[in-house]
Amino acid sequence: MAILPILCYPDPRLHKVAQPVHEVDGRVKALVSDMLATMYDAHGIGLAATQVDVHERVVVIDVSEERDQPLVLINPEIVWASEETHVNEEGCLSVPGIYDGVERFDAVHVRALDAQGQSRVIEADGLLAVCMQHEMDHLMGKVFVEYLSPLKRNRIKTKMIKQQRGARD
Ligand code: NI
Repeated sequence: MAILPILCYPDPRLHKVAQPVHEVDGRVKALVSDMLATMYDAHGIGLAATQVDVHERVVVIDVSEERDQPLVLINPEIVWASEETHVNEEGCLSVPGIYDGVERFDAVHVRALDAQGQSRVIEADGLLAVCMQHEMDHLMGKVFVEYLSPLKRNRIKTKMIKQQRGARD
């Protein structure tokens, strides 16, 4: 298990589109365990492979209070979405310190392979549904700040660049 470095917005690699996983083999299982370790280490509730610069359709999530219910989604696809939507406050490990409202489906059904390569459909609502939609956006190269106005996005971009410069000095 390794803690992987997380890309920070506006790193252009966050906009790469992830490729499907062809086989859940040892390499993919090792990636999943590294991603879980990285997510827990960063106190996040979700992490997409894109954020650790691996451009394959792999997501890990844990929205439990006790941080003991890891969920692994490989090649996730939304197969059903509710008509109802809500604006929820979101944050992202790739955009540290920034929180803002994004409109998402209230509930989704997601088909994905689990860490053993078994296909399953997960019926999610609440925080889990929001988190799944957020992480699946990452796989499409989309960061949540791209839903915000260009003005807000540019402010965030400037702030992130300054922070990263500060961290390096
Ligand atoms: Ni994120």
